[in-house]
Amino acid sequence: MLKDKILELKKQKNAVILGHCYQNLEIDEVADYVGDSLYLSQMAAKTDAEIIVFAGVYFMAQTAKLISPDKKVLLPNMQSGCLMADMVDLEQLREFKSKNKKVPVVCYINSTAEVKSECDICCTSSNAVKIVESLNSDEILFLPDTYLGTWVQTKLNNVKVITYPGFCPTHLRIEAKDVVEARKKYNGAKVLAHPECHKEVCELADYVGSTTGIMNYAKESSDKTFVIATEKGVVERLKRDCPEKEFILIKDNVVCPNMKRNSLEDIYHVLLNETNEITIDKEIAEKAVCCINKMLEVSK
Ligand code: 13P
Ligand code: SF4
Repeated sequence: MLKDKILELKKQKNAVILGHCYQNLEIDEVADYVGDSLYLSQMAAKTDAEIIVFAGVYFMAQTAKLISPDKKVLLPNMQSGCLMADMVDLEQLREFKSKNKKVPVVCYINSTAEVKSECDICCTSSNAVKIVESLNSDEILFLPDTYLGTWVQTKLNNVKVITYPGFCPTHLRIEAKDVVEARKKYNGAKVLAHPECHKEVCELADYVGSTTGIMNYAKESSDKTFVIATEKGVVERLKRDCPEKEFILIKDNVVCPNMKRNSLEDIYHVLLNETNEITIDKEIAEKAVCCINKMLEVSK
């Protein structure tokens, strides 16, 4: 079986497999760690393995390579990009900064290494508020996700969050009317949303948090029915882990097509042939890693 072959190869090659919660469920059967982007970057920093296979999107594998430059980092499918991360390049970042000089720049981990190399600190959806607070600044620039930036703003009265107009097409499929309809249909259900969603969706939700935040909330809650306003993979994992509770994906099409590109076959082939290796220009990497290390330090 393919799964057994991967497990055997992992042992032989001293490799570790990291899997994001939006991956196809079968990936969990071979992954050593499954979680949200903060957890996976912490695991990439900790591991002693020589090879990291990152079952996620490109920026996640790139982040692992920045944190562990001496390790071989492999991405199962090179087409797994993040549409949001691709919405800002260096030129656009410089223009954004030039309109707001001397303001600290926070970049969401969903960004390229080039962009990270010219920002002050990174954040993920689970630590964004803490990271912005840690800067002790009256104003900050936040990119690329305008929605996560706007959500952070609602949590902090004494900071002005100036956001870049990037977004996640998958999360923006969820509209406020979907929450209203779901509440009518599933009376009493708790609505849990990711902060990449529209502001109105976040306002209507009972809880807003990262992928892991949502999963922990649902697992620890005494409630029994949950409407999930984030990627389908989260619902699949919750159904598997808590069969006694009911989880409803708010809309069928809340699926990240790029996250779903990685397959067990891809994992097997990249591990066997050690292909799809992530490489980053040395000068960019040295600057970009500072941004991530600062985040990991604040998140300890
Ligand atoms: P998390 O930080 O919750 O893992 O989210 C990553 C992501 O890409 C959400 O779309
Ligand atoms: Fe990027 Fe959105 Fe996919 Fe997350 S869900 S990886 S933000 S495109």
